[in-house]
Amino acid sequence: MIRNIPEFEALRQRAESCQDCALAGTRTNVVFGVGSLEARLMFVGEAPGKNEDLQGEPFVGAAGRLLTELLGEIGMTREAVYIANVLKCRPPGNRDPRPEEIDACKGYLREQIRMIHPRVVMTLGNFATKLLLRTETGITRLRGRAHQWWLGAMLVPTFHPAAALRGGPRVAEQMREDFALVRHLLDEPPAPSVSGAAPEEEPAGVEARQDAELDPTEQMELFRTS
Ligand code: URA
Repeated sequence: MIRNIPEFEALRQRAESCQDCALAGTRTNVVFGVGSLEARLMFVGEAPGKNEDLQGEPFVGAAGRLLTELLGEIGMTREAVYIANVLKCRPPGNRDPRPEEIDACKGYLREQIRMIHPRVVMTLGNFATKLLLRTETGITRLRGRAHQWWLGAMLVPTFHPAAALRGGPRVAEQMREDFALVRHLLDEPPAPSVSGAAPEEEPAGVEARQDAELDPTEQMELFRTS
């Protein structure tokens, strides 16, 4: 759901000239995101790698090919979804993102999610999952179910595709289960209070939360700029 494309383009342009952290000095390209602005499903990965930095597009390497394959298995294409990362610029040597880089960058992700307003956000890997769910709980415990999140969206954590490439068939099998869950959520008719909700309204419960850490109102705090 996007009502104002110029607003989204302005955000992209701002990101593309961003100098708010040291990664501006080492990047080749800003990797803002790709896909449909009307996507009902949005992926959030960690940060661009070498190929992504060179091409300016997220998930174009081996991990990206697996992502495209898993999407195809639930009858979807890359063009129908939106794909972004927590960080828009590559950390040198693919090191972990640093807190100051996340702080500098998270406003872009927040605005991407707010404007696209997907029905389901799928986080890829520990990094994006812990950040968006504000938890220290690891991906192995969080995956396999949908978490009620922000703006009425459901958040479905899964492994990073790179972990499946390293970890073998069991990890890939669990990712397939998570993708099937996403398909199921997208196929369900939206709850009336979700479908009619303005983005700022409190999300309606689609599934009862099990985990006291995962308070949707706290998710909004994540993106609050100080
Ligand atoms: N890994 C990520 O987290 N994001 C990319 O875009 C590529 C690899």
